[in-house]
Amino acid sequence: MTKFSEIKGFAFDLDGVITDTAKFHTQAWHALADQVNVTWTPELQESLKGIDRMGSLEMILKAGNKQDDYTHDEKVALASWKNNHYVELISGLTPDDILPGMADFIKELNDKGYRASVASASKNAPFILDKLGLTDSFVGIVDPATLHAGKPDPEIFVRAAEILNLLPEQVISLEDSAAGIASINGAGEVSLGIGDTTVLAAANLNFASTAEVTLANIAAKLD
Ligand code: G6P
Ligand code: MG
Repeated sequence: MTKFSEIKGFAFDLDGVITDTAKFHTQAWHALADQVNVTWTPELQESLKGIDRMGSLEMILKAGNKQDDYTHDEKVALASWKNNHYVELISGLTPDDILPGMADFIKELNDKGYRASVASASKNAPFILDKLGLTDSFVGIVDPATLHAGKPDPEIFVRAAEILNLLPEQVISLEDSAAGIASINGAGEVSLGIGDTTVLAAANLNFASTAEVTLANIAAKLD
């Protein structure tokens, strides 16, 4: 694997890595599942992480075998209902909602000259980063509206390295979802999984929580 000394930049997933908005996505999707009479399960919940808005809706409908029950326009309306609910839930975010250790880690990267970008499937990412006071900490954000395919396709993390003007092998990317780790691995970057090691077994490096993510701890695992 890449040596730590070759690493020049970092690409971050947002929801569940920088801030705990994964719980708000869950809350809003669960409400939508109830509305369309699809049974909510822990497995369905986990499988939605990292998946874009329309893809998530399709997975929920499919879980209840209802994927053919709605027209395209009705599906767009359902996704928009979920997003309105979600935007209400995130409207009160402040810098205090950055996950433990992440503000310090991002500052450490900035101070030590590592470049950082954001690779989130969320169209709400610029709004959230603004609320968290982190917009200026990143060189750029991949615009998910310009992607041909979402996670687990590698495209989003390939683009995140391009924004950094780095080769994929010079980048470590952070994710809390299985789809995201598959995307990072496909892009040829070092994948750092945060959370359940069973779910994130394909990650090159595993951390139980954001609080443990520091350059020293990463270097210790890579060298
Ligand atoms: C992230 C989250 C997903 C969410 C997706 C799209 O990847 O992990 O749960 O569905 O972004 O978010 P959006 O805010 O655009 O609906
Ligand atoms: Mg995530």
